[in-house]
Amino acid sequence: MVLIEAWFMDDSDTDQRMPHKRNPNEPVSLEELKKLGVFHWKLDADIYEADPALEKIRKDRGYAYSDIITIHKDKLPNYEDKLKMFFEEHLHLDDEIRYILDGSAYFDVRDSEDRWIRISMAKGDMITLPAGIYHRFTLTETNYTKAMRLFVGEPVWKAYNRPADEFEIRKRYLKSLPVTGGIE
Ligand SMILES: [Fe+2]
Repeated sequence: MVLIEAWFMDDSDTDQRMPHKRNPNEPVSLEELKKLGVFHWKLDADIYEADPALEKIRKDRGYAYSDIITIHKDKLPNYEDKLKMFFEEHLHLDDEIRYILDGSAYFDVRDSEDRWIRISMAKGDMITLPAGIYHRFTLTETNYTKAMRLFVGEPVWKAYNRPADEFEIRKRYLKSLPVTGGIE
């Protein structure tokens, strides 16, 4: 069963909301995402207000804070500016945790060789991106998503656009990646 779909992106700079798969498609597995520190859960978004599975994740991982953001042109002030901002390559000093309650979205993350991986998120998908990973966000062609934002402690939404390599968290993140290549 495919839990979540992810793929290496093509080099085209046409509409960011398109899938941007390579031809032929080059899928990326959940295992590969885990190596980058990206974790995923599939939940029942219809019961998010009283979901024991969600509660357990939050308790285990200390995700005390949550709010809900709706990204749609009629719902989000400064919609176009925000979308542009979300799609700038950036990192945070904390994990980014999102749970898609409705609609769909793409999270793009850089792999250890600096290639873009696009992660397709639909209703019921929850993801955590590790502090220090370069990433960006876009809506899909449906132009709508409703997402829960979670956080350990008081939320800090500050984004540092690339280049942000001087941050200790970035260095720590790079060290956490499995070593690729080598002479063995
Ligand atoms: Fe982010």
